[in-house]
Amino acid sequence: MNHLDQLRNNIRSQNVNKPGYINISILWHDGNLYNYEARRLGSGGSKTAWEFTPEYVIMLPNIDTSGYLGYWPLMVENEVKMSNYLREYNLLTTNNFKVHVEVNGQYVPAYVSDNFEYLARNGYYAIDRKNSSSSLWKGKTFVGDDIFNVDKWYSAVEWLIDDYEMLVRLGLDGYIEGADSSNFIVFERENKIRYYGFDFASKQDRPEDDLIPRMQEDRDNCKIPSIVSRRIRSAVSTLLGYERNWSYDIDPNGIQEKELLEGIQEKVRTELKIKYPFHIR
Ligand SMILES: Nc1ncnc2c1ncn2[C@@H]1O[C@H](COP(=O)(O)OP(=O)(O)O)[C@@H](O)[C@H]1O
Ligand SMILES: [Mg+2]
Repeated sequence: MNHLDQLRNNIRSQNVNKPGYINISILWHDGNLYNYEARRLGSGGSKTAWEFTPEYVIMLPNIDTSGYLGYWPLMVENEVKMSNYLREYNLLTTNNFKVHVEVNGQYVPAYVSDNFEYLARNGYYAIDRKNSSSSLWKGKTFVGDDIFNVDKWYSAVEWLIDDYEMLVRLGLDGYIEGADSSNFIVFERENKIRYYGFDFASKQDRPEDDLIPRMQEDRDNCKIPSIVSRRIRSAVSTLLGYERNWSYDIDPNGIQEKELLEGIQEKVRTELKIKYPFHIR
């Protein structure tokens, strides 16, 4: 039996006795093996997050959807690589780093991430765009009473605009929307939103070098006002769902929503055109 199958069986058998908990041995960079009791926090199509200290989670394959198990080692490499890459450009990520998990004397790669629950206790709320049920940002608001006010939204997404500009310049437009990694983090005290990078590796993984893109040439900047303003519009549309708690009592026909989305797109585009005057035709 290979290492990954052993890990799967180990998790499965432990969960029969104590659902949602496992005992796990993690080999750290210092070469030492430490034992922890870990609690399952959430899972997606291919991974499961386990809290093993207040600050950290360890990501392991989701054994219930283990058709992708063979890709696991490559996924670990890519999650760590992309997290490091974004960090170089001052984008926020879960700060992933690689460790190994010991199972019956054999070692399986895995990665450690910042724990969303710990961040939330400190006023930072990760939003998984593809999995709203896993979001801790619920029944809270960053725009206040007037949820259709363009200026309030503009202020909330100011930093997100900068992040999206950087992602477009990095050739990572796909990460802004559509990809599993098109996520947000809410700064509760500041009433601001930023991009938050995690879940980069797709399930049917690609060759790892494809994940490290090259910085785009300046000539692409001419597209920034239109691309970024469109992406911000879509981000606001998603975030508005959280603001209104998915209740459509106010604005049932979507008239105010449409005005807001058009207003925010136009404002972002106008501001960016001022910032990039020589690229605009
Ligand atoms: N750093 C983390 N802290 C807490 N929970 C997490 C963390 N990362 C992921 N999760 C939870 O695990 C789920 C799956 O992780 P994700 O990286 O999206 O993998 P995938 O969607 O490929 O299975 C997330 O939706 C979330 O519920
Ligand atoms: Mg996911």
